[in-house]
Amino acid sequence: MAPRNRTITMTPNELDLYSQRLLTLKGEVKPSEIENRTINQDLFQVLDFLPSHFVDLLFVDPPYNMDKSFLSNGFKEMSIEDYSVWVDSWLGKLLKTLKKTASVYICGDWRSSAAIHLIARKYFKVINRITWEREKGRGATVNWKNNSEDIWFCTCSNRYTFNVESVKLKRRVLAPYRTDRGEPKDWMETDKGGFRVTHPSNIWTDLTVPFWSMPENTDHPTQKPEKLMAKIILASSNPGDLVLDPFLGSGTTSVVAKKLGRRFVGIEIDKTYCCLTEKRLELAETDSNIQGCSGGVFWERNSFQPQHSGLLNKKKFGPRGSCHTPTEQSLFESQDSK
Ligand SMILES: C[S@@+](CC[C@H](N)C(=O)[O-])C[C@H]1O[C@@H](n2cnc3c(N)ncnc32)[C@H](O)[C@@H]1O
Repeated sequence: MAPRNRTITMTPNELDLYSQRLLTLKGEVKPSEIENRTINQDLFQVLDFLPSHFVDLLFVDPPYNMDKSFLSNGFKEMSIEDYSVWVDSWLGKLLKTLKKTASVYICGDWRSSAAIHLIARKYFKVINRITWEREKGRGATVNWKNNSEDIWFCTCSNRYTFNVESVKLKRRVLAPYRTDRGEPKDWMETDKGGFRVTHPSNIWTDLTVPFWSMPENTDHPTQKPEKLMAKIILASSNPGDLVLDPFLGSGTTSVVAKKLGRRFVGIEIDKTYCCLTEKRLELAETDSNIQGCSGGVFWERNSFQPQHSGLLNKKKFGPRGSCHTPTEQSLFESQDSK
């Protein structure tokens, strides 16, 4: 492994150790029996066993409608009609797990997104579609490079949590207008330059897809950035709320929920990914940093210098439930594809 490669890996001994922490459901369970745990099973085997009305935030990152291998399982591209039927087969059954005030986020790429929208409309109020820039992968030669993904934001009713103050963006000011008295207009002047704190929109361009020199990176082929999850969890849940992820992958949702003081339940069919989750959860005990999220704001990509000036040597950890921790450097590496 290259010396600066920080990818989280799994030895056979660790696999043994962490697999002992995983749950298998054989019948109906109470929320307290699965809280803060990883269920290592096929979602379709556990849907009927999950409790009712216990989830505040459902985050779903299903296999997209394309050929893809996930170690022990894989997904085969199908027609958009068949993909809709497949989405419906698990989304409809997850409904009973949700509180009336719950929010639901469902991820998809351009091939999957239209089907997800149609099925989500059957069950929820569709509030918005977030599009985020992946900024990764090789260029295409006979097509536009696929550089975006969607996340459908839905709620179960008009009563839902949205903490906009927790998810503001801190951006460098490009047009530093001043008042007649020469004072910055809606921005702050610092020794690192001018910055503006703005409300977040439904286009997210500040994310970095995990790569080898980031401490959150694993070998999971479609791992979501912790920063993406932090935005969703901070905006759409409160400390102590419960977050469910039925296609957990490498555990990003559970890990960020833990770092932000939320409860969590994750379901994942592949044992190695479940064990990676457990290892990441253990690492989160001593390191609750979320790269790109510090000082109570979300920073632009590649903004290490202004974020960390004066902070790094203090090793100051903020309260759980907020983004107040300094993060670590790894933003200046070249971004290799997985
Ligand atoms: C798109 S990935 C999720 C990635 C995740 N958000 C992360 O940050 O690592 C989808 C995951 O669903 C899992 N999966 C596929 N079919 C499943 C099923 N029937 N039950 C449970 N998990 C399943 C795959 O193994 C894969 O890890």
